[in-house]
Amino acid sequence: MFELYLDSADLERIARFNECLPLAGITTNPSILAAAGIGVNQFLSEASKILGDNARFHVQVVSADIDGMLAEARKLHDLPYDIVVKVPTTETGLAAMKRIKTDNIPFLATAIYSVQQGFLAALCGADYLAPYVNRIDNLGMDGIGVVADLQSLLERQGMTSKILAASFKSTRQALAIMQCGAAAVTLPLDVAERMLSHPAVQPAVDCFGADWRAAFGDKLSHES
Ligand code: G3P
Repeated sequence: MFELYLDSADLERIARFNECLPLAGITTNPSILAAAGIGVNQFLSEASKILGDNARFHVQVVSADIDGMLAEARKLHDLPYDIVVKVPTTETGLAAMKRIKTDNIPFLATAIYSVQQGFLAALCGADYLAPYVNRIDNLGMDGIGVVADLQSLLERQGMTSKILAASFKSTRQALAIMQCGAAAVTLPLDVAERMLSHPAVQPAVDCFGADWRAAFGDKLSHES
């Protein structure tokens, strides 16, 4: 089943989108939490009240060394939520991933900019891989192409890591990622908002309402 996440720590807007979107959970990163001025514990407590017990949260470690990442992963894993630990896909991060894997802690390899980087993280046993689509585009490369190539490589090698693509600036990018078979995306709120809207929709709905009232007044469908 495809997993849709929001990439945000804006609790008010998460609550709004949770009303209409079938969210698997929320992804955060240190920059998102810092910008929102909310720590991990408070965020998880409040977000889980909004999303319920089945929500999954992807939370990134901030340690810069292997032992620190492993210790942080263990602490995050002990929290009373469904947490996937995000680990940057650096040389240090890959080393930490190998050790986190032996602890059976679910983890996501983040900050993926290339197919080979994603493949190495998959070999280290990552549950999720997070390629940064728009950031890759901004470097003059092809973010959608990287995800498509990584997806086909995972399939060809029979690997179970799931792509959870991140960093979007347009709905077109997000749709292309869904079409290439990625298992999950995490959308910033502005892109999620644009996924919901099309300028032709409300006029069409308004027209149905006007036609109905002209014929049946205030009657509801089952009363007509
Ligand atoms: O967690 C990484 C992802 O949030 C990056 O997105 O929009 O900062 O490129 P962005």
